Amino acid sequence: MNKKIIFFPLLFAAFATNISAQVHIIPEPKEITLQEGSFTITPSTVIELSGSAGKQHAEMLQCFLQEHFDLSLKIRKRDQKASNRIRMKHTGNMSPESYQLITDEKGITIEGDDTGIFYGLQSLKQIIENSHSLTLPHLVICDEPRFPHRGMMIDVARYYYPVEVIKSLLDQMAHYKLNVFHWHLTEDYGWRIEIKKYPELTQKGAWRKSTQYRKEPRLHDNVPHGGFYTQDEVREIVAYAAERKIAVIPEIEMPGHAMAALAVYPQLSCSGGPFEIPINWGIKDDIFCAGNDEVFRFLEDVLTEVIDLFPSQYIHIGGDEAPKKRWQSCARCQQRIKDENLENEKELQGYFVKRIADFLKERGKKIIGWDEILEGGHVPDNAAVMSWRGPKGGISAANKGYNVIMAPNNFYYLDRYQTDDISVEPINIGGFVPLDSTYLFDPCGGIPPDKHKFVIGVQGNIWMEYIHSVEMLEYMMYPRILAVAESGWSPADRKDYPNFIEKMSHHLNWLDQQSVAFRIPEPFLQQVIKTDDSYYIIELAPTVRDAVIYYSLDGEEPLTRGKVYRETIRYPKDQGVKELKCAVVLPSGRTSMNYTFIINE
Ligand code: ACM
Ligand code: ZN
Repeated sequence: MNKKIIFFPLLFAAFATNISAQVHIIPEPKEITLQEGSFTITPSTVIELSGSAGKQHAEMLQCFLQEHFDLSLKIRKRDQKASNRIRMKHTGNMSPESYQLITDEKGITIEGDDTGIFYGLQSLKQIIENSHSLTLPHLVICDEPRFPHRGMMIDVARYYYPVEVIKSLLDQMAHYKLNVFHWHLTEDYGWRIEIKKYPELTQKGAWRKSTQYRKEPRLHDNVPHGGFYTQDEVREIVAYAAERKIAVIPEIEMPGHAMAALAVYPQLSCSGGPFEIPINWGIKDDIFCAGNDEVFRFLEDVLTEVIDLFPSQYIHIGGDEAPKKRWQSCARCQQRIKDENLENEKELQGYFVKRIADFLKERGKKIIGWDEILEGGHVPDNAAVMSWRGPKGGISAANKGYNVIMAPNNFYYLDRYQTDDISVEPINIGGFVPLDSTYLFDPCGGIPPDKHKFVIGVQGNIWMEYIHSVEMLEYMMYPRILAVAESGWSPADRKDYPNFIEKMSHHLNWLDQQSVAFRIPEPFLQQVIKTDDSYYIIELAPTVRDAVIYYSLDGEEPLTRGKVYRETIRYPKDQGVKELKCAVVLPSGRTSMNYTFIINE
């Protein structure tokens, strides 16, 4: 049972009646002004391209209207006098990614640079989706992002996901103005990117013979798992992402999380192996040897091919969770420590990271490393730090003047449980990251204002230990990714949790129609009011628009033996503590688990 203890008085105020909520855009735009009047897109509305606006945006809108409204609009070059049009106007003088979206009696105008037009289009689509209507209120939206890096990490190394799934994720990211796809391609558990010079990396290193699927007791499925992306597929994904204004940052893990490579090339380890690709989740002691120049030659060869495939300015080189046990007893590693006048094995990792960062710098690339790269004595000047062990690494890096991406595991790890009662949830890695904590995390919290500029963005991370289907991936990703997207894009003073929940209910309704398997959030305990001393009064609101809440106060199954929630629940206090059990049925018919609130004083 999912129990939430409710103490009186009130948890949250009623939903905000924020004007922006009426168009329900996520992430919240910087400025929205709603005006009198409305404009309706009809079969005779024309999509108009002005300036050098790219036809691809017009075609995307055309496809959207065709698919969802069976409407086939014409595209044409600008006609000054035309009204009843959706104009896309390219302007060079607006800041990168910003756009203006205006709806008035003549139609709709989206203005910005190429990326700005794309984002204006996402907002337009959302307004239509959320109202299920082609009639839009007259409005003016002026919008631009708070941070340049708005990311999501997908760990395809623990579980491989095919190209079509990655493309669908990229579509979903773009819809929420996320612009960085961090692709975790190598791991202990599988090497997923074709490297021409080392074909065995994927011939052998992409496959494991079995996978752990339970923690306690530890159980394995005895089913071989694997897969990899050919270089042609990588190019296809990078191009697909670019069309959606998403940069793809590959992660090639080093010096740890390298067992898949070491299973193929054991000579790159300290001990020489032999190794198998592990089937148990957890950190492994065997890592790349830092004293062996062959390791650097290998990694440089790999990175040379990677650089060729990914135009992103950053390459992620990992750096996390690299135990120093093998280095401590390795003659070559110890020799390297002496030769380089290093203090210890942590500094040896600093040497490792610097050597790779220098190699990449000579080729015009910057690196991103997990926050352990702060521990190696010095951080390369072309490095950005991805703060994952909470925000503290990011705070420390920003204070030192390094670029920081906030991806703290206690707020932005979307593989963690979404409720603290894990007995009702599908098995997962552990930890508890509820939607409100993701939403309320302040990426610049704890950093002095003059250093905020070093926070270049935020990122939601999804590690796949127990996520082996698209449905499960969607379940973990949604709705929390919406909260990450809003923190990445919206000005801090435009964030408002009750308003977000209200907007989210519209988005989840749309996603339900698209058969996205998001986790159905608990009903929003909109108000718990104590009007007098003798009654409890409880108001609920579904967190998915048009969903139906069933409830019971007598311990019965809400769906089969409870009531449909229609109005405020009220019961005498002298009946004592009650368990309020709820279940939610979505418009599609999909049903939630049971949620239990304990109403107490
Ligand atoms: C990490 O979660 N090990 C970066
Ligand atoms: Zn070694």
